[in-house]
This record gives sequence, C-alpha cells and structure tokens, in this order.
Amino acid sequence: MRTDTPQTIYRKDYNPPTYLVDTVELGFDLDPARTVVANRLTLRRNPAAGGRAIELHGEEIELVALRLNGKTLAGADYTLADNRLVIHEAPDDVVLEIESVCVPEQNTTLSGLYVSNGNFFTQCEAEGFRRITYFPDRPDVMAKYTVMLRADKARYPVLLSNGNLIQEGDLDDGRHYALWEDPFKKPSYLFALVAAKLVCQEETFRLADGRDALLQVWVEDGNLDKTDYAMQSLKHSIRWDEEKYGLELDLDRFMIVATSDFNMGAMENKGLNIFNTKFVLANPRVATDVDFQGIEAVVAHEYFHNWTGNRVTCRDWFQLSLKEGLTVFRDQEFTADMIGTDTGRAVTRIDQVRTLRQHQFPEDAGPMAHPVRPDSFVEINNFYTVTVYEKGAEVVRMYQTLFGVDGFRKGMDLYFERHDEQAVECDDFRRAMADANGRDLTQFERWYSQAGTPVLRFEGRWDETAHTYTLKLIQSCPPTPGQPQKLPFHIPVAVGLLDAAGNDMRLVVDSVDRGATAVLELTQAEQTFVFTDVKEQPVASVLRGFSAPVVLQGSYTDADLLHLFSHDSDPVNRWEAGQRLAMSRLLKLAGEAAAKGNSGASLNLDETFIEAMRKVLVDETLDPAFREQALLLPSEGMVAEQIDGVDPLAVHIARQFIRADIGARLRGELLAQYEANLTPGAYSPDAASAGKRALKNIALSYLNAAPDDESVALAQRQFDEADNMTDRAAALGALIASRVPEAADALDVFYQEFQGEALVVDKWFMMQAAAPTTDVAAVRALMRHPAFTLRNPNRARSLVAAFCMNNPVQFHAPDGSGYAFWAEQVIALDALNPQVASRLARAMDRWRRYAPALQEQMKAALQRVAGQGKLSNDVREVVTKALA
Ligand code: ARG
Ligand code: ZN
Repeated sequence: MRTDTPQTIYRKDYNPPTYLVDTVELGFDLDPARTVVANRLTLRRNPAAGGRAIELHGEEIELVALRLNGKTLAGADYTLADNRLVIHEAPDDVVLEIESVCVPEQNTTLSGLYVSNGNFFTQCEAEGFRRITYFPDRPDVMAKYTVMLRADKARYPVLLSNGNLIQEGDLDDGRHYALWEDPFKKPSYLFALVAAKLVCQEETFRLADGRDALLQVWVEDGNLDKTDYAMQSLKHSIRWDEEKYGLELDLDRFMIVATSDFNMGAMENKGLNIFNTKFVLANPRVATDVDFQGIEAVVAHEYFHNWTGNRVTCRDWFQLSLKEGLTVFRDQEFTADMIGTDTGRAVTRIDQVRTLRQHQFPEDAGPMAHPVRPDSFVEINNFYTVTVYEKGAEVVRMYQTLFGVDGFRKGMDLYFERHDEQAVECDDFRRAMADANGRDLTQFERWYSQAGTPVLRFEGRWDETAHTYTLKLIQSCPPTPGQPQKLPFHIPVAVGLLDAAGNDMRLVVDSVDRGATAVLELTQAEQTFVFTDVKEQPVASVLRGFSAPVVLQGSYTDADLLHLFSHDSDPVNRWEAGQRLAMSRLLKLAGEAAAKGNSGASLNLDETFIEAMRKVLVDETLDPAFREQALLLPSEGMVAEQIDGVDPLAVHIARQFIRADIGARLRGELLAQYEANLTPGAYSPDAASAGKRALKNIALSYLNAAPDDESVALAQRQFDEADNMTDRAAALGALIASRVPEAADALDVFYQEFQGEALVVDKWFMMQAAAPTTDVAAVRALMRHPAFTLRNPNRARSLVAAFCMNNPVQFHAPDGSGYAFWAEQVIALDALNPQVASRLARAMDRWRRYAPALQEQMKAALQRVAGQGKLSNDVREVVTKALA
C-alpha cells in the first residue's frame, strides 16, 4: 500500500553508515527481459557508527539469493520491506553474496539499468544503483569495483564499464564477456555499464606527465560524422585542467558514450561518461552554434567532475552543490578561457546572468525555493536545480572575486590536499578557501544555508565641497518556505565610478587606491563606503561583472543608464544598463496594453530608447556577439517576474510591439548589419564567427518582426541557401514568427530533409511548440505526428515542455486549456518517467503571480494532479509544495 504523504529526509538526521564496503565484484548476465546480477561485497563494520545491522537499498529488483560469509541467510536473519534490505546482526568482517534480477526493457524511468534503441545503459545518480543490486546506495560508501559483463556478442558487441579493461573473450551460445576493473574507490552513483552495438572515434592523447591516455567517443553507427567536436572538447578540457589547476587524468582510458534516451544532460561515471546525444553529436549541417557551445561546456563539465565530484565526492545528497556548483563554475571558466578575449569572456558572463534571472531567481522566489545546500527533500532528483547548479556556481565564483584567481587556486589545492578520495561537505570546501587565504568565512556560510535572492539597494551621494562620493549599500532578503527571516550575507560588490566623459575614475577608499574597480565587502544590513578625491558628479557602476547573485536596485535615471550603456568599461554592466532601459519600456507598455484590454492599437516607443539601440547596433568598435546580447530584450518570462497579477498576453503584446518597432524604425541599419555580418566560406563554430551569425540573425528576426516582402524574401533565401543549421534554423524561426504562409512550406521542407536526424526533429517540434501561433489544439495535433513519443525525454521536452514553458501566451490561454493539457501530460508522463514528469510539473511554480482568473484555473489544474491516487514522490513533492 502506498502512503499519501511521502517521507521527508532531513540533513540534520545524517548518520554515518554502519558498514563500509571495501570491494564490490559484480557479474552481469545481460538480457533485456531478465538480467541476473551477482554481487559479491566485502564489508567492514564502521567503528564511527555503532550498530551491527547492515542496511542495503533495493528497488524494483527481485532478491534471488543472499549469503553472508558463505552461509545462506534464513528469512529471520533479515527484513526486506520498503525498498530496504536489513541484515539484523553481522560480524565485523563480512562477505556478502547477493543475487538479484531486474527487467531492463521494462524500465521506462531511465534510472538504473535500461534499454535504449536496443542497447543497455545505466544511470545511477542519484539513487539508481539500488535498481541494479542491493547496496548501501549512499555517496559516503566508497569502494573498489570489478565488473564482469556477459551478453550476446552479435547484439551487444561492445561491453564497457568503469576503469580498465582487464580481460575479454568468447563464451558458449554466441555470448562473450568483458572484465573491467576500476582502480579508484568510488561511490555507487558513479558506477556505469554499457552493452551495445556502437562504434567509436578514438585517439591516444599525451598527458602532462608523459603518459598516454586512450580517448573514445562511442555513438550509434551512422553518427561518426558527428563526433569530432566532442573529441576536440575533451582534449581541450584535459589540457585546461592540467594547466589551470594542475589536475591530471588519473586513468589510462576515458570514454564518452552517447544515448538518445537520457533524463538529463550527461553523467560523470568514472572513466565512462554517459551523455545525452544532444551533448555529443554535432556537425554544421545538423547543429547550431548554441549546440556546439553546449557540447563543449557539457563535455568539460563531466570531465572536470573526475576531480570535483569523483576523487572528492559528497558526504550526502544535501551536499550536491559541493560538486555541482564547483564544477559548473569550472566549466564556465573553461568556456571563457576557450574564447580568450575580454569581450568574449564578458559575453559568456552575460549568458550566465541571463540564465540566473530567467530560471534561478524565479525558483528562489517560488514554492520550491531551497538553499544551495538544502535542509530537506522528499525526492533528491527534484534538487538537481538551477539553485544547486547555477547559484552554487555563483557562490564558488564569489570566493574567486574575494581572493583573486591565485587565492582561489590556493584554496583548491588545499581542498585536494585535505580531501582526496573522501566524501565531504560544502563546509569543507569553504574551510579550505578560508584557511588557504587566512580569512574568516563564517558569515559566508549563509550563502549555503539561506534560500532566496538577496536584494541589494544602493544610494549614492556626491559632496561637491568635500569631493567625496558616499555609497550606501543596503541588503535584505525576502522570506522563503520555512525561512521567514534572513540574516545579512557577506556580499562582494564590485564598484566603479564613471566621470562625465565616461571614463573610469580612480577609486580611493580609506586612503587606499583601489584602481578602477573596487570590490567592497558588504557584511551588515546597511553599510556606507566613502570614496575620496571625487572631483565631479560620477555615475556609479555597481555590481560589476555581476559580482554576487542578487537583485540590484538603485534610483537610475534614463540619463545614467544611457551613460553606462555607452561608456561603462565593464561590459556586463554596460549590457545591464541596456536591459534596464528595455525593462522599463516593457513594463510600461505591458501596463498600457493590459489597460487597453490588450488591443495594442496605440502603443508608443520613445526615440531615446530607439536611438540607444541604434547606437549599439552600428557600433563597429563592439564585438558582434556583445551587440547581439545588447539588442536581445529581456524575455517575456523575465518581464512577467516583475509584475504582480501578470497578464501574459499583455507582456507578449508589449514585447512584440517593441520588436516590431525596432524592426521598422531601424530597418536600414538592420539590413546593413545583416549584410556586414555574413560569414562566407566554410562554417566554423568559433566564437567570432558565431557572434557574427548571432548579430546577423537577430537583425533578421527584428526585420521579420515587422515583415515586408523584402524581409520575408531575405529569410526565405537564407533558409534555402544556408549550409549550416544555425542559419537554417534562424531563418525558419524568422519565417514562423512573421506568420507568413511561406512558414508552413519551410517547415515541411525542413522535416523532409532532417527526418532521419532525431536531434533536428526535436528542433522542428520545439520551434512549433514555442510559436505564439501554436495553440493547444495544434500541440495535440503535433503529438499525433508519427515522430512523436512521450517515452523519449528529448522528444517529450521538445514538444510538451517547450509548449508549457516557452509559449506563455498560448499556455496561459484564458479558457484554461493550456493548464488542462499540462495536468494531463504530467499524469501521463509520471506513469513512464517521474523525473521528466516532475520537471514539467514545475511549469506551474509561479501560479500565484498571475491574474486572478488565471490563478484560479492553475490552482484547479494543480489540484487535479495532486488528487491523483497514483503519483510518484517526484511529482507529488512539486505539486504539494506549489499548493502549500
Ligand atoms: N551529475 C550529473 C551532472 O551534473 C547530473 C546527473 C543527475 N541525474 C539525475 N537523474 N538526477 O552532470
Ligand atoms: Zn555535474
């Protein structure tokens, strides 16, 4: 019988494991319908824990045999209930032999051992290993693994697991075997196996210490024309970690395997990373610049986990950000270093800020808000969040902002010196940073324990006789579920002052020359900093480089913002000034549209704003990539976050109006930039070329926001003639957005051409799902397309989730049809794959922010899902918290 209230697990209840595991020998007889797993463990009583009971986890597996030190255990010796196998009393040293059976072909959850396109894969993080065998499935139990794989040779010619291949050979009945040994201790969540018909691109790579490592990228037959970039990214990642942190690959062999059925992006299993195909496969014909960037970042991310995650891992899942926040920070820095230029770095930073605002700030203000290190959870898979990952990376970044690159490196070195091959806590990382830099970081701990986005307000006052500029910084943090009151954070605030000519002033604080940018440390609720020798009224550039994950408020005038937008030497704040100018217009026009019942007849955009956009568009001293970022308006979702009782249609109308107005009033400049940023010659995904394409394509998109024959012809020509997916997809997007009849034909052509490329078919679904012309009925029709299936996560996300999350106007249709669709799909998906269903469930997080009539219907949809008798813990947690 299932219980209605699933169990909450608390961080404060942590207990060390009663037994530690030294070695694990696994034997697999792989069969999709019945896989037999033989597991031989050597365990040792943990003196730190006390107790003689051995606790093992097991889920959806059938226990066949259980022997302790050679003796078969009787029913009275153990309890098997609620996915737990408890052996009541054991000696100090134990050899446990467990035989169990699982059914991979029926595993639609994609957690544990499953079948995808006829091949076997595993996903064990966070708690999937218990779906393979009985085991103390917790990250603080680290053991050495030996793995014997046996399977039919014709169907599964490739047999892979972690570490080194020790032996392979043939067996009777057309079967074969492979024996793998991982030389490093690891937690069970890093176990992996692959048994498949795959091919690989491989090469030998010389490591810094002179050893040669074998690198492999495994894919399905027919995809070897799409593995170059992943391989190149892997080599760059290995080099970067050697050079930047002195961290070397510790294995002789490193494998990446791509599968089209995967819940997340990729997984850092020791020596055998398993990836969603989306983050491996690319060539210019099928992948966009953004896809190439994603591959480079995710390959790096998983590779970097080998040290930050695998060699040093998490004590428990509350510490997830210890490895994820740190590894995201590392992949962000890698991406920036790969571009190399200052503006290139800044553009990657702008991307990060956009992601935070678009996804993390709303999470931190909603019903699922949680600290970077959560205090409790019902289902850990619900906590692989933008807060744990991206806000966690911001927290790590702040150490580097406080201590500099060298100070940060000292902290990293001390962290590895202290904790190599251990399972530790976020506090251990903070302590290493503090000790290596001789700093007290007690207060900094609040970044890990307090949820919510801090609000940082500034007030500046120039004294024209004393020649001082006094900057008052005031912080607060709104309440979040379970945390009504917050204490002040330790916030690094990077500040510059611009003179009337737009140049940086030299900053002198307490008689110390702080250069052009000073990092002020705000630790109180309110603090004042005095800059001396300030001879004219400055314009303050606060929070340069987005030095902390906060909402910045200040009484900016349009004149201040225009000054910063034209001159700030910090590109992030220069961009930010433009976003503020745009946001104020978006909010004003959305308000007017709503007041006029969304007729939109007489909206008006001021010349000041258009002129600011014109200037940045044509400024040849600026990188095209930066100009594109500056021209991109805050998304409808970001605007909606600023309005109470939001009407999504009004926001859409306002944003569309601005886009069309820019398209019409800057038509000549946009056309000129379109021509000036063509990238003739062979496609290359490098940042400079990608930046040009981005600027050219945003110009195309603005031109088609106010379409005429010429702009439509331009899009059509680009669609017909381009030789790369970036330009094909952008042109198709422009045609769809301009609502011309040509769009339908182009969509058909596109599908015909790419129906054999699953990742491009995903794009085809996604572009339609997110188009404001696609209503619920149209989505339902697309679901009946032969290429659609709810069982493949990428496909489900590309249509169902894309509609619910990226098509606000139709999703929030006043008749509630979008919400009814959502409820239906969450329930249908939950029966197949709770993790994917639970992500979709989050589309309702912000329901309390909408106009009353919408709120009511959203609540009803949430209640409908919550009222389901049969629901996973994953979805139950999300909808329960939303309704709380
Ligand atoms: N550790 C992986 C990564 O960050 C994420 C895998 C999590 N998977 C899951 N089902 N919770 O790259
Ligand atoms: Zn990760």
